[in-house]
Amino acid sequence: PVSVYPDQNSASKNVANRIAEIIRAKQEKGEKAVLGLATGATPVKVYQELIRLHKEEGLSFKNVITFNLDEYYPMQPDADQSYVTFMNKNLFEHVDIDPANVNIPDGTLAPDQVNAFCAAYEQKITAAGGLDIQLLGIGRTGHIGFNEPGSAPNSGTRVVTLDDLTRRDASRAFGGKENVPTKAITMGVGTIFKAREIILMAWTETKAEIIKKAVEGEISAEIPATYLQLSDHVEFILDEAAASLLT
Ligand code: F6R
Repeated sequence: PVSVYPDQNSASKNVANRIAEIIRAKQEKGEKAVLGLATGATPVKVYQELIRLHKEEGLSFKNVITFNLDEYYPMQPDADQSYVTFMNKNLFEHVDIDPANVNIPDGTLAPDQVNAFCAAYEQKITAAGGLDIQLLGIGRTGHIGFNEPGSAPNSGTRVVTLDDLTRRDASRAFGGKENVPTKAITMGVGTIFKAREIILMAWTETKAEIIKKAVEGEISAEIPATYLQLSDHVEFILDEAAASLLT
């Protein structure tokens, strides 16, 4: 289903409240909530609201385990552009999560270690009980995570080559496209599909065209987000601008 909100703020609050509900429900049962998280501009306000819920309404992250979708490869965790830095600044350093419960693909591994790491990442998600919820943004290529055009529906966590458009869209943060890594480690489409709930968020008119293709277009590897049409537990959460081309 598709839900359209008047703006990014109200949509983000709604998503944050759903995450808070999962965390609280699990906590009552003495279980851990397992969250699949995304980086980029899209989820920033969700994280801001989660921080507010922590600071003002006592929401605790002590029983939360997180798995991030992706990381550039190679990437040092303390680099400004790393998704480790992003998550620390935008969420983790403001809440009471145990750093041992935070999982982000490791961009520092040698080429001969990375495949084993990817397999272990999948196993760690499974061992944690699977993802209760996965947050997604969408790239203008139609990528979810960094599953670029050509990604298989059953793909797992792996090293991928970034699309040229994705690298162009990232160029500002890196001071030029030539500085954007050509590769990334990403959860696969299959990894994302195993989550018990999937929320894809998109804001602003820059996403309107790809949202139309993702939601209404033919299902195809050319636009990996179209695979989400096959899931019965996905919700597209949009602002009016991102939804503006939907029929
Ligand atoms: C980020 C990720 C990407 C982004 C997408 C949109 O972890 O997996 O798929 O969600 O590139 O990025 P923004 O939100 O910056 O428009």
